Amino acid sequence: MAGRLEGKIALVTGIGAGIGQGIALRFAREGATVVGCDISAKWADATVELARAEGLAFESVHPIDLTKPEDVKRYIDFAGEKHGRIDILVNAAAIAPHMAPVATMDYEEEWIPTLVGEVDLVFLAVKAAWPWMIKVGGGSIVNFSSVNAGRGSVNTGMIAHCAGKAAVEAMSRQIAIEGGAHGIRCNTIAPGMVQTAATAAAGTSSGAVAERILQRLLIKRLGKPEDIANAALFLASDESTWVTGANFAIDGGVMAA
Ligand SMILES: NC(=O)c1ccc[n+]([C@@H]2O[C@H](COP(=O)([O-])OP(=O)(O)OC[C@H]3O[C@@H](n4cnc5c(N)ncnc54)[C@H](O)[C@@H]3O)[C@@H](O)[C@H]2O)c1
Repeated sequence: MAGRLEGKIALVTGIGAGIGQGIALRFAREGATVVGCDISAKWADATVELARAEGLAFESVHPIDLTKPEDVKRYIDFAGEKHGRIDILVNAAAIAPHMAPVATMDYEEEWIPTLVGEVDLVFLAVKAAWPWMIKVGGGSIVNFSSVNAGRGSVNTGMIAHCAGKAAVEAMSRQIAIEGGAHGIRCNTIAPGMVQTAATAAAGTSSGAVAERILQRLLIKRLGKPEDIANAALFLASDESTWVTGANFAIDGGVMAA
């Protein structure tokens, strides 16, 4: 049976860990040829090994720092030139944001890197992929917002992160508007707390922080990369050809309560 992404060239950023890794492997299992990237060569190599062990069509360009325009172009153009097309771009990579309140957040050391690492890297990848998608008559872009685009936190200072994720949502609507005439769709996924190595290290697996998170969830478990990959798969595939400019909360119901 053909996979849901059979024949598609799918670019997924941040394949070395967490959500990006989960999406990249799922897409390849659904028949896409995946071209990933990551800033960490070690993590990207480990993901490539997982994919190759399953016999999947999976490549990676690394190390790539997506905050550097020349790196972004090298990655995207490598994929476009090798395969002649780009059908899907999932911008899953993002910096681990600097979490600090207004009073103590440092402008140069914390605010700027967080915004560049959450917002600029999405713009740069979309801009580089744009001509490739136009060339083949369209494509699907999936960007990552967060529940924190729609709500702040009373427990953790996160002013730059809230601004960054709200910017990704707003920017994605504009991408959808400008892409419409070219057949380019763009949507965002706003995950709630998803269990990854990074969120586990931040204490979300057990203890007081975990308790607080679980209390707010309507479905009493943290998310898994697979939960997010299911939504990304729908948005990347031709099943969603009438869906653009939308934001999808995949969050265990946290935004409903
Ligand atoms: N995990 C969650 O709970 C959660 C919640 C809401 C939103 N999100 C968003 O979902 C997306 C994926 O999150 P995650 O939790 O899987 O992240 P993660 O930290 O687990 O993985 C991010 C990956 O991106 C890579 N990366 C970071 N900066 C990079 C750069 N400059 N260039 C290239 N690669 C870079 C990292 O090396 C890593 O492999 C992010 O946009 C994140 O903000 C995650």
